[in-house]
Amino acid sequence: MKIKSICCIGAGYVGGPTMSVIAQKNPHIKVTVVDVNKERIAAWNDEDLSRLPIFEPGLDGVVDQARGRNLFFSTEVDEAIDESDMIFISVNTPTKTYGAGKGMAADLQFVELCARQIARVATSDKIVVEKSTLPVKTAEAIKDILDNTGNGIHFEILSNPEFLAEGTAIQDLHHPDRVLIGGEPTDSGQKAVEALAEIYASWVPKDQIITTNLWSSELSKLTANAFLAQRVSSINALTELCEKTGANIDEVANAIGTDSRIGSKFLKASVGFGGSCFQKDILNLVYICKSLGLNESADYWEQVILMNNHQRTRFANKIVKSLYGTVADKKITFFGWAFKKDTNDTRESAAIYIADKLIEEHAQVAAYDPKVSELQMQSDLNYLNTRSESENAQYLTSYHDPYQAAHGAHALAIITEWDEFKTYDWTLIYQNMNKPAFIFDGRNLLDKTKMQAIGFNYVGIGQ
Ligand code: NAD
Ligand code: UGA
Repeated sequence: MKIKSICCIGAGYVGGPTMSVIAQKNPHIKVTVVDVNKERIAAWNDEDLSRLPIFEPGLDGVVDQARGRNLFFSTEVDEAIDESDMIFISVNTPTKTYGAGKGMAADLQFVELCARQIARVATSDKIVVEKSTLPVKTAEAIKDILDNTGNGIHFEILSNPEFLAEGTAIQDLHHPDRVLIGGEPTDSGQKAVEALAEIYASWVPKDQIITTNLWSSELSKLTANAFLAQRVSSINALTELCEKTGANIDEVANAIGTDSRIGSKFLKASVGFGGSCFQKDILNLVYICKSLGLNESADYWEQVILMNNHQRTRFANKIVKSLYGTVADKKITFFGWAFKKDTNDTRESAAIYIADKLIEEHAQVAAYDPKVSELQMQSDLNYLNTRSESENAQYLTSYHDPYQAAHGAHALAIITEWDEFKTYDWTLIYQNMNKPAFIFDGRNLLDKTKMQAIGFNYVGIGQ
């Protein structure tokens, strides 16, 4: 079966970049990315590539190459569904904020809506691909909806989870460690798997395309994120011990990471992991375990989240304690608001939680991030619902210039590891700060000796 046209529902951080690369590498396939969010689609269609809705290194070049040739962004969802052979569902699956499983289970309402819409609109056989991260066994529900509400046509369901990380999405998509495709063991199921594998084979070596059954594929995605987050929590779980004993966490990470069985990646101590997926996917895993009565397994994975919460709180408390027990009316400057460098995404960023705790202590938080707007920062803080929007606006100010942001501050907190922070004139920053001037380096990004030589009280993580 040769796929001639693809539709992707959801033009977000996954749908946008993934489909751009599929279109770039398969000029013979028409790829249409649709979304209900009109502004987002308009931004994807913006002539000025610096205004794409997602900041991702290298994305503009890929979009430039394929857009208008075989890559299209549209709000015409029904039309795109019906004219495609293969439909990717790449919508958001956040943690539920209501009802059963509130705060833990994945909210599947957007996925279900997609399934219902596909069933209603489709008039020819389709392959439906789960690109969103979903609880194991979701394909069963999707198939049920498609088969029972559809127009009598044949649907084949595949699971093809995405492993890209933000900030390196294009690199990850161009050179994936593996592509995972889960399908049904039937003849038509295996043909659908082959059809999708062929699309990836345009640029991914065949031996890196792994095929499994549907449930293994769905569960592998949750598990991959749980393992990655667990490594970050594991290294962070040693930072306090380092601080108490004189060991240095970066030295420890380097020493253990050189053991090829452990490996060097994902051992960077930090203020805690953020992003839209680690927390939500582990909570989902915990919820699934609990639902099946697997309480020990649930507790084991939940600890990864508890450690992460502790790391954020600990960082905020350390700032207050070091500043003589009070930050009331003191200007505390954040360098970075995004959850990691090279992205404008702030979902679940440690910055939000740390700012919230400092504002509880009446600190004046001044934030600078090269890619995050003031509006976004305010809305992140308001989303926590700790205090009124006007109070938040009173305590959180955003700056376009890092030197202005640091001017008159008592302390600087490095929240995101943006490369540009290393290139600043730190002597100038020091001169314009309140003394004694503190740096709380939540990423161990700066050179401790150099900062101390300038005059800063330098406080890193796990050192
Ligand atoms: P996102 O919020 O950036 O994008 C989702 C988009 O889907 C939104 O633009 C929304 O408007 C649209 N949408 C929702 N319902 C719709 C509907 N019925 N019809 C049309 N459009 C609809 O989310 P994301 O970060 O791209 O994540 C999508 C999925 O991919 C999630 O399941 C996530 O867990 C998974 N994932 C994300 C990443 C990542 O790095 N962000 C990586 C791997 C997997
Ligand atoms: C993560 C996974 O890495 C992707 O494989 C996965 O596809 C994605 O989740 C998803 O399912 O959404 P992402 O969240 O975009 O990607 O970014 P990561 O690079 O994994 O970083 C997550 C958080 O962990 C960041 O806040 C980062 O700063 C932090 N981190 C990462 C550390 O604190 N230390 C490390 O050593 C690594």
